[in-house]
Amino acid sequence: MCGIVGAVAQRNITPILVEGLKRLEYRGYDSCGVALHVDGKLQRSRSTSRVADLETQIQQTALSGFTGIAHTRWATHGAPSSSNAHPHFSRDRIALVHNGIIENHEELRAELQAAGYVFESQTDTEVIAHLVDHLYTGDLFETVQQAVKRLTGAYAIAVFCRDEPHRVVGARQGSPLIVGVGQGENFLASDAMALAGTTDQIIYLEEGDVVDLQLQRCWIVDVNGKAVQREVRTVHAHTGAAELGPYRHYMQKEIFEQPRAIGDTLEGVTGIMPELFGDKAFNIFKQIDSVLILACGTSYYAGLTAKYWIESIAKVTVNVEIASEYRYRDSVPNPNSLVVTISQSGETADTLAALKHARAQGMQHTLTICNVATSAMVRECELSYITRAGVEVGVASTKAFTTQLAALFLLALALAQTKGRLSDEQEAEHIKALRHLPVAISAVLALEPQIIAWAEEFARKENALFLGRGLHYPIALEGALKLKEISYIHAEAYPAGELKHGPLALVTKEMPVVTVAPKDALIEKLKSNMQEVRARGGELYVFADADSRIAPSEGVHVIRLPEHYGQLSPILHVVPLQLLAYHTALARGTDVDKPRNLAKSVTVE
Ligand code: F6R
Repeated sequence: MCGIVGAVAQRNITPILVEGLKRLEYRGYDSCGVALHVDGKLQRSRSTSRVADLETQIQQTALSGFTGIAHTRWATHGAPSSSNAHPHFSRDRIALVHNGIIENHEELRAELQAAGYVFESQTDTEVIAHLVDHLYTGDLFETVQQAVKRLTGAYAIAVFCRDEPHRVVGARQGSPLIVGVGQGENFLASDAMALAGTTDQIIYLEEGDVVDLQLQRCWIVDVNGKAVQREVRTVHAHTGAAELGPYRHYMQKEIFEQPRAIGDTLEGVTGIMPELFGDKAFNIFKQIDSVLILACGTSYYAGLTAKYWIESIAKVTVNVEIASEYRYRDSVPNPNSLVVTISQSGETADTLAALKHARAQGMQHTLTICNVATSAMVRECELSYITRAGVEVGVASTKAFTTQLAALFLLALALAQTKGRLSDEQEAEHIKALRHLPVAISAVLALEPQIIAWAEEFARKENALFLGRGLHYPIALEGALKLKEISYIHAEAYPAGELKHGPLALVTKEMPVVTVAPKDALIEKLKSNMQEVRARGGELYVFADADSRIAPSEGVHVIRLPEHYGQLSPILHVVPLQLLAYHTALARGTDVDKPRNLAKSVTVE
């Protein structure tokens, strides 16, 4: 989703801005642009193609300068077009880029039109550019502080002015913005990764902060206009442009990285102790009587799986809520609940807002399972567990999901231990199973050739059903999400027992039905549900395991995972579903790593 880079320096900054945009590309965007201060004027270049195209335009026009801003846009207000692409100008005096959504943009637009401003785009962003120009006092820093008071919604902005050549001003509320501190030069970005290779000295701006960047000055005021010092941290940001190696896509690479990612996430876990989640975890785990999990998309499905684990192992009640629903719902708060957010990026707007909502309702104990140690989510939560999946570039989440599951299983064990519900023998057995996961996943990955054969058949379908029961129902949901988001095949998942309450009406011989069927307590029930499908001519594609006792027959295709893995089986069973989605998408020729309409990091609501 949208990305910002800005710089004020004593050298040509176009390579820094373009490189920054390239590093943010993986987040998803549909247009991009850059604006620079050139000989007392504002100049810009914009493209509805890739950043590489923007770079060519910049080279052809020899655009260069010492002060400037750049942006990748993921359209919300107005189609992806050149005129809607950022930076936006006002009266050739103000240049501005913005991430987020301004909710009162219509009202401001009317007011600014009445004051004589002519709008060139359909964006909510252009109103901010005109508003800054309208309020301009000759001091951009002061003006931006006044302007943001008029905005309702979420924003991170970077702005510069034709009349103040060595200054860029930034502000944030609800969308991330960081400062990169250099020697005689300073930078702004929506993510530290954009500045990797330029500076590792990073300041995370806080909600309501406005920052004045000049060559030798980085001055921050808080929401009340009071000067504040924010900590400068050394951040070794990963570069998004990891090598593909032998793989065709990042998604495939990331699926195959899972043994390493899980191994790294569990590194150093030799025993179960609440302190894995933070120094205060023991006291907090002792006090709480329930867990409230908040997340979106794939991370939400990790939460659903965790509900089964935490309730059965720790005997603690768990509610799992979709963050975008929870944040606006009248719910009954329980101050003794542990609020757990799950997020790969740590910047998902709905999950952050849901967390704030929970806190505002009096729930103060917060924990996050997150893949980005420097993210807002980690900074906002009392406790955390950092998954070590590494940068996930493919839009469809894979290794982030399985590492979240590993961390959530640890959470179930740590809660059980604190509540006195985990014996030493059980602890030792679980640790052994966790440590064996990388090897077990590698054995599942070796099934790829069989899955490719199935994917060729799936590529010709337009619909698919996914079934699971118990612990594997969330895995069926995740399998359906993976297939729909990258292959564009309509896929739905159901707990298999629900089939006869409606979805069975969809089953014909044209409907492939993927069944997640490890040998667990519900396998015989699941087999009955499979019979219901076969009796209607539906074609079954079954992911069984070594102990499931399901034989292939007419209309029943079976791939057997090599090991039965007990409670951790969801972590293994999702892997073939990821591979099925990947190879089906490949056979259909879709853009696997950047599926249409989707962004990697969803920083707007
Ligand atoms: C699907 C996917 C999304 C994310 C969701 C939450 O493959 O990646 O559904 O899981 O947007 O993102 P995070 O985990 O960054 O909060």
